[in-house]
Amino acid sequence: MNKDDRSTILVVDDEHGVRQSFNMVLKDEYNVLLAGTGEEMTEIFTKNSVDLILLDILLPDGNGLDLLANLKETDPNVEIIMVTAVNDVQAAVKAIKLGAYEYIIKPFVVDEVLTVIKRAFEKRSLKKEVAYLRNELERYQPFEAMVGQDKKMLEIFDLISTISKSDGTVLIQGESGTGKELVARAIHNRGPRKNNPFVVINCAAIPATLMESEIFGYNRGAFTGASNTSIGKLEISDKGTVFLDDIDSLDINMQAKLLRIIQEKEFERLGSNKIIKVDVRFVAASNKDVNIMISQNKFREDLFYRLNVFPIKLPPLRARKDDIPLLLNHFIKLNAQNSGKPPKKISERAMKVLIDYHWPGNVRELQNLVERLCTITKDIVIRLEDVAPDNVNKTDIKDMTLKEAVSLFEKGYISETLESVSWNRKKTADKLGIHRNTLLAKTTELGLNSLK
Ligand SMILES: Nc1ncnc2c1ncn2[C@@H]1O[C@H](COP(=O)(O)OP(=O)(O)OP(=O)(O)O)[C@@H](O)[C@H]1O
Ligand SMILES: [Mg+2]
Repeated sequence: MNKDDRSTILVVDDEHGVRQSFNMVLKDEYNVLLAGTGEEMTEIFTKNSVDLILLDILLPDGNGLDLLANLKETDPNVEIIMVTAVNDVQAAVKAIKLGAYEYIIKPFVVDEVLTVIKRAFEKRSLKKEVAYLRNELERYQPFEAMVGQDKKMLEIFDLISTISKSDGTVLIQGESGTGKELVARAIHNRGPRKNNPFVVINCAAIPATLMESEIFGYNRGAFTGASNTSIGKLEISDKGTVFLDDIDSLDINMQAKLLRIIQEKEFERLGSNKIIKVDVRFVAASNKDVNIMISQNKFREDLFYRLNVFPIKLPPLRARKDDIPLLLNHFIKLNAQNSGKPPKKISERAMKVLIDYHWPGNVRELQNLVERLCTITKDIVIRLEDVAPDNVNKTDIKDMTLKEAVSLFEKGYISETLESVSWNRKKTADKLGIHRNTLLAKTTELGLNSLK
């Protein structure tokens, strides 16, 4: 093995003879460094990358146990094996409690020393492997609640991991139901603020007149009806994250005030002059194209740039069709866990219709549909007739063009009829009151042939 690839062991013992014997035993397999005092050890330890230390409990300038605690604090990955001349079990037990891997008693038996060292290194590599696997697992399903395998989503997961470690503002844009709030929570939960509050300010739900008191809070008597002092959401979220949901709905005057807060990180409660400093991270979300709003003078450009330090654009579900089966199965599993019933299965044809569907309400619509299907479907299998046409969200038809709505209805109705007569084309055409050729043209146009 190349000398540089070998592990490094630091032997700390005040007896020259002991140091030399360890050196003799170890030098063929490891890089060995020697220290006679605690001071020497500290110097060598800070200048070299040390993997394992053989540490004498009694040193002329200190106690090995005290040194052990410091070493572990400096580098939690270093393995320490205590060496003691006397059979001082008490000190050895203490050492292990403080994080030492093992202890050996002088005079030592060579094979025993080599075995203990080998085991310590094995534990180290296992620890590394666990950390690596955990990391891989997180990459595959990075956030407990978020699933996705589409390339765009994987990129977003990576982005979330990176930006969660910083404090820059984030602007998440995406259609309704694409998972903006979930992303905001993931950013918070993965970062250093995770044990502090995640506070949602819903800009669309709070009337403009109440927004200021909601955000800044107020002192008693600040306005008629302010009978108590109330702490605003900014103060509550100190050291945490503020999620400004539907930021596009924020009144233009409030936009200016918000800009100031993001810049200065300070504000006053209504009816008070006292400046309150806060340490918050801002994450905003919008399902509108904010750039268009800027061009219409409905959104301040300077605020946009302040928020858009880290932009995240969530693609609509129809642009990541690979995720549809994954999400369907994810929600079916969740539903089964909650209801205590076995998870439903989806027939191939039903799956095909769901993958083809354009999901105007995105993941939320899909989640609601699964909820409904799991409740109303008696059979363990969810079939084509269960998903079309009525059960695919009727209310969302309002977002479609007439042509899209008609196609969706036709597709559901024709496939249902086909299904009812076991895909006998003639019987279907008869039932529908159309010619067989018309049926053929329709099934081709609607992509129904591939379902059979
Ligand atoms: N990738 C995903 N994996 C699992 N569940 C998801 C995913 N994306 C969204 N969801 C779920 O879909 C629902 C809608 O997500 P969320 O509330 O985050 O969307 P949104 O973009 O904030 O929607 P809106 O604009 O309507 O507020 C939630 O129940 C959320 O848990
Ligand atoms: Mg939302």
